[in-house]
Amino acid sequence: MLSWEEFESSEKRKNQPEQKKLEGKEIKEPQLTTKREENAINMLPGQVSDRLARAKKEISKFDQKMGEDALSGMETRVHVDQKAMINCRADVNQLVPFKYEWAWQKYLDGCANHWMPQEINMTPDVALWKSEDGLSEDERTIVMRSLGFFSTADSLVANNLVLSIYRHITNPECRQYLLRQSFEEAIHTHAYQYVIQSLGMDEAELFNMYREVPSVARKASWALNFTKGLDDPQFSTGTTEQDKELLRNLVAYYCVLEGIFFYCGFTQILSMGRRNKMTGTSEQFQYILRDESMHLNFGIDMINQIKLENSHLWDEEMQEEAACMILQGMELEIEYARDTMPRGVLGMNANMMEEYLNYIANRRLVQLGLSEEFPNAENPFPWMSEIMDLRKEKNFFETRVIEYQTGGALNWD
Ligand SMILES: [Fe+2]
Ligand SMILES: [Fe+2]
Repeated sequence: MLSWEEFESSEKRKNQPEQKKLEGKEIKEPQLTTKREENAINMLPGQVSDRLARAKKEISKFDQKMGEDALSGMETRVHVDQKAMINCRADVNQLVPFKYEWAWQKYLDGCANHWMPQEINMTPDVALWKSEDGLSEDERTIVMRSLGFFSTADSLVANNLVLSIYRHITNPECRQYLLRQSFEEAIHTHAYQYVIQSLGMDEAELFNMYREVPSVARKASWALNFTKGLDDPQFSTGTTEQDKELLRNLVAYYCVLEGIFFYCGFTQILSMGRRNKMTGTSEQFQYILRDESMHLNFGIDMINQIKLENSHLWDEEMQEEAACMILQGMELEIEYARDTMPRGVLGMNANMMEEYLNYIANRRLVQLGLSEEFPNAENPFPWMSEIMDLRKEKNFFETRVIEYQTGGALNWD
């Protein structure tokens, strides 16, 4: 190690003129101050730079504008009665006082259920997926189709939330949940990507299935139809027809996409897990399903609240349309079940799935206050309902690989 004197004398030598030439090239001395810094150094006390002078001028204009906004009512404190689900003119930045306690509670519940895909052990799945005779061809098709559909379906939901729904829901506690839901959708897409990557699958094939495999593509494009109008930056709610368009989008995404389109694939993968196959993938799906059942319940509450506040929107025509959408979704999901289960597999077949989807469609209709379509339909998979509320079955933290670290990355020492 150099002593201080040795270090200092070697530094001085480096700064000698002859040291600055290297193989005949002149080495430029580093410029110590910029022109702006030089000006600042030469400034008289009390004098300010041009840049700061401009900033001060802009702030004075801003202060004047703020005063005008306050006078025009921008700063009015929001009263709970002024809050509304849609077409609300009250300030959307004032979260409290809460009008819809259920929305805030769902936000809290969503946060309490936080999880991340990499906490789940995928090792047994990798071994099974790579072994020659670990899974039958039909079981492999189910895994591929499920990951193919879901890897993009959650992106469709997330994009619809952020780009289409969010700006038209004019209530801050509901928006708070929509933000939480959007993050959960990102986690779901992350989970599918994590499984696809862990299993070493063809990523391009999986992420393009929603455009290339008919039974998958038909579901995706059916949902996308309901997002087009709302995506338009010119679209706004306020008239009966426009408000109905928002309602149609909510029914399509919450009741059909999240409430019907997810059910065949989830039942198939969870049935696999119950047979001790692809247990990591199945566990990822269990956590996703628990989140999804909360998304669905939030969506139903939101639709019913909009109906309550705007009864003219829920006329006979709209009721008929909503019921028809639910049944269309059920038909597409039955088609998907037949495509993914040409024969019996995992203790189920397409006919059993059809009955299950009749039962699910009934539930969605009733949740919207509409009459059942299949009075005799029964649930052939009662274990699915138990899994949806995971905490009833097992402690959430029991199966986790690592503990969730709240603020674990911060170190103030
Ligand atoms: Fe999701
Ligand atoms: Fe969702």
